[in-house]
Amino acid sequence: MTARGTFLTFEGIDGSGKSTQARLLAEHLRREGRDVVLTREPGGSDGAEEIRSLVLQGDPDRWSAETEILLFTAARRDHLERTIEPALAEGKVVICDRFADSTRMYQGLSRGDLRGLVDQLHKLMIGREPDLTLLIDMDPETGLSRAKGRQGAEERFEDFGLDLQQQMRAGFLGLAEEFSDRFRVVDGNRDMDSVAQDVTDIVMVALR
Ligand code: ADP
Ligand code: TYD
Repeated sequence: MTARGTFLTFEGIDGSGKSTQARLLAEHLRREGRDVVLTREPGGSDGAEEIRSLVLQGDPDRWSAETEILLFTAARRDHLERTIEPALAEGKVVICDRFADSTRMYQGLSRGDLRGLVDQLHKLMIGREPDLTLLIDMDPETGLSRAKGRQGAEERFEDFGLDLQQQMRAGFLGLAEEFSDRFRVVDGNRDMDSVAQDVTDIVMVALR
């Protein structure tokens, strides 16, 4: 029988602390002697990292809404084939900063209601959900100011402003209800260590 690992994802609005919590969790699990792959989307494989710069840099109107869904899904397919599935087959814990729930939200909501298209493409080309998804829930104003504090070229969605962040927060909480079997909501409006403690407690139960 093939060994199967555990696939954990972090979701939430920009600046909610996903990357920080994903890193702290990876460090914790490694200290416990677990084999961990820490990865992110868009990206996480050579090809997907190339697609990342295509979708997050340059003119925001560079791609139509539909093409954008295809690009995020193409990146995910490469990431899944080359990074995620091989690691899970070796029994590792894969921690991924964003996954398909981000496409359901950003591409599904930000430029009209395209959720149906996102779901169809997901079923056709990805067909896999995480074992556990940690939603770091965060006040949108705080999230946006934290995200803006990071200077960089990848400001594609942060530039949509507070309205979109509010819509995304509500959307993510809705997803947590829709997929309540695999989602856990963590209050991100606290210091890093308190958030990390909740994350660890939830994950340790899942890994038992
Ligand atoms: P995300 O990956 O969700 O965009 P990050 O983990 O990159 O978020 O965090 C965004 C910024 O906020 C970073 O500068 C990070 O150091 C800071 N940060 C993360 N978590 C907290 C927290 N609980 N309290 C205060 N600042 C935080
Ligand atoms: P990320 O690097 O996680 O940004 P942040 O640290 O600010 O949360 O993701 C970059 C951007 O990509 C983010 O604004 C959300 C967007 N995104 C999508 O629009 N669709 C997707 O499927 C994914 C994975 C990310």
